[in-house]
Amino acid sequence: MRILQFGRTGQVATAVQAAAGGTVEVIALSRADCDLQDPEAVRAAILAADCGLVLNTAAFTHVDPAEARPDEAFAVNAAAPGVMAAACAERDLPFVHLSTDAVFDGQTDRPYVETDAARPINVYGRSKLAGERAVLVHPKAVVLRISWVFSRYGRNYVSFMLRLAREREVLKIVADQFGTPTDGEALAAFLIATAPRWAAAANGDPAFGLFHFANAGETSRFDFAKAAIDRDPLAKARLERTSQAAFAEPAPRPPRSPLDTGKLQKVFGFRPEPWRTAVERTADRLVADPAARA
Ligand SMILES: NC(=O)c1ccc[n+]([C@@H]2O[C@H](COP(=O)([O-])OP(=O)(O)OC[C@H]3O[C@@H](n4cnc5c(N)ncnc54)[C@H](OP(=O)(O)O)[C@@H]3O)[C@@H](O)[C@H]2O)c1
Repeated sequence: MRILQFGRTGQVATAVQAAAGGTVEVIALSRADCDLQDPEAVRAAILAADCGLVLNTAAFTHVDPAEARPDEAFAVNAAAPGVMAAACAERDLPFVHLSTDAVFDGQTDRPYVETDAARPINVYGRSKLAGERAVLVHPKAVVLRISWVFSRYGRNYVSFMLRLAREREVLKIVADQFGTPTDGEALAAFLIATAPRWAAAANGDPAFGLFHFANAGETSRFDFAKAAIDRDPLAKARLERTSQAAFAEPAPRPPRSPLDTGKLQKVFGFRPEPWRTAVERTADRLVADPAARA
């Protein structure tokens, strides 16, 4: 089967292309092929595509710049996915879209489930929530919320922290933000493996709807970074704990936004790997091949 994918150079986009093969082919569109700020181009790409499923990995993912550029964030993260879902509905195609833990406010004492109230606290989160709502009107839509994505590909927290730990003497890392890391390569493998099921499913199938996808276990930003940096014999930085408040970033972050993956496990039989195992494997690969770093 063939997947039409929005996004070619991003982290998840690259991981999905690397995971494809066998019976699943991915046609990936870059920004130059189709700008998500151009609704007509988005719709035309889907109406013209010879594919059995549409996947959107593209998004305005810059959380701080989104505060100053809300129109662009909403155009890319909300309006464009809505146009994609409508075009897929016209053609009765399944549509898989990615969202984020940033739809939550982070005021929780347990991992979030899909039915918990979403209350985003920054522009990025509000734009992604608007996108989810626009997408889920299509009966064959899938929205996977993911969080703290890392992989061997693209810009991501693990590759960034590994680089800083080699460059700096002291590395201050936020220790009061908690969540569930998501192995982007496991996500890509899941998307490729599940694509034929979505393509064959009828309206009302439990494989459609909203799901949380993440690794098992919860951690802090500090321990997430440390798990990776501890694998690099050439890391020289001394790690220091700091707070979110000390960073004074333009966009507030949810302080605690772990995702519960129970629904995903029940519907797809997916077994999430402990986050530390996946982070250590990814760090080992990045340390062995520094050219792959962001
Ligand atoms: N990374 C995370 O930690 C994380 C966490 C939770 C959820 N997510 C979600 O996961 C998905 C994939 O994220 P990612 O980590 O792969 O992000 P990424 O590496 O930042 O990639 C985003 C991609 O979107 C493309 N894009 C942005 N604006 C566009 C436009 N106007 N037209 C066409 N393409 C455009 C970018 O293209 P250019 O390269 O041309 O800029 C880039 O290739 C997104 O939906 C994101 O919200 C990510």
